[in-house]
Amino acid sequence: MVNQNVNVLSVVDLSSAYGEFVLLQHITFSIRRGDIFVIMGGSGCGKSTLLRHLIGLKRPAAGRVLYGKTDFWAGEDEDRQQIMRRAGVLYQSGALFSSLTLAENVALPLQRYTNLHEPVIAELVEFKLSLVDLAGFGNFYPSELSGGMRKRAALARAIALDPEFLFFDEPSAGLDPITSKRLDELILELRDSLGATVIIVTHELASIYSIATNAVFLDREAKTMLATGNPKKMVRESTNPVVIDFLTRGTGKPPAWIHE
Ligand SMILES: Nc1ncnc2c1ncn2[C@@H]1O[C@H](COP(=O)(O)OP(=O)(O)OP(=O)(O)O)[C@@H](O)[C@H]1O
Ligand SMILES: [Mg+2]
Repeated sequence: MVNQNVNVLSVVDLSSAYGEFVLLQHITFSIRRGDIFVIMGGSGCGKSTLLRHLIGLKRPAAGRVLYGKTDFWAGEDEDRQQIMRRAGVLYQSGALFSSLTLAENVALPLQRYTNLHEPVIAELVEFKLSLVDLAGFGNFYPSELSGGMRKRAALARAIALDPEFLFFDEPSAGLDPITSKRLDELILELRDSLGATVIIVTHELASIYSIATNAVFLDREAKTMLATGNPKKMVRESTNPVVIDFLTRGTGKPPAWIHE
């Protein structure tokens, strides 16, 4: 079992801005190894932007992002790329290459970043596809698949290099509840089989309550975070009406289907 008490990713007094427009200030939280950490909050509060600060796509206006003890934004571009080699990212659109088969899509990171020979890569690709319930679909093109299958194929590509960190932006957007439930289960399975730490932007309450071990709640009005911690605990203990409203869908009471 991995040691879950180690902070593998921390954000310290971070501010986020687009030019003069300050989006967020005083964002501080820590993510432990093996966490499924949810970034949540209403539309436009800065969830995707915060994710971009964590994966090296946008420099914060102030504050620090620490991978272990390494100050992510203090280093050079190459240092950040090195750290990001340990991460898999699944963007909202999924973004598979439509002219490539699933197997070719999943093989890309392995061809680019390893010296493995083609037969080994082919074997790894089939294994990654089987992990996301797509065994035997390697020769299909993205356009031949359902939305849920495309998401899973993008997930297979994101885990091609056995990442320590997996980042997702709204993975279940556009999926039906059964399909998104299966995606949640897969995220849990992959966390366990890869020993990965998962950071996920979502506003799906079902996902939040079923898979999150830790979370941060951002607010557009306050331009900061209103809470951090386990969402099940947050919904019971928070005294902030905005947090309660979000986590109870405006009913003031946690959904009856939350289980400990
Ligand atoms: N490229 C940009 N240039 C200027 N402002 C931007 C840019 N991208 C986002 N913003 C501003 O930052 C705010 C937060 O955007 P962001 O995409 O991070 O929010 P979000 O919480 O992910 O929203 P959603 O739930 O709709 O995905 C937006 O409302 C917008 O005003
Ligand atoms: Mg977003």
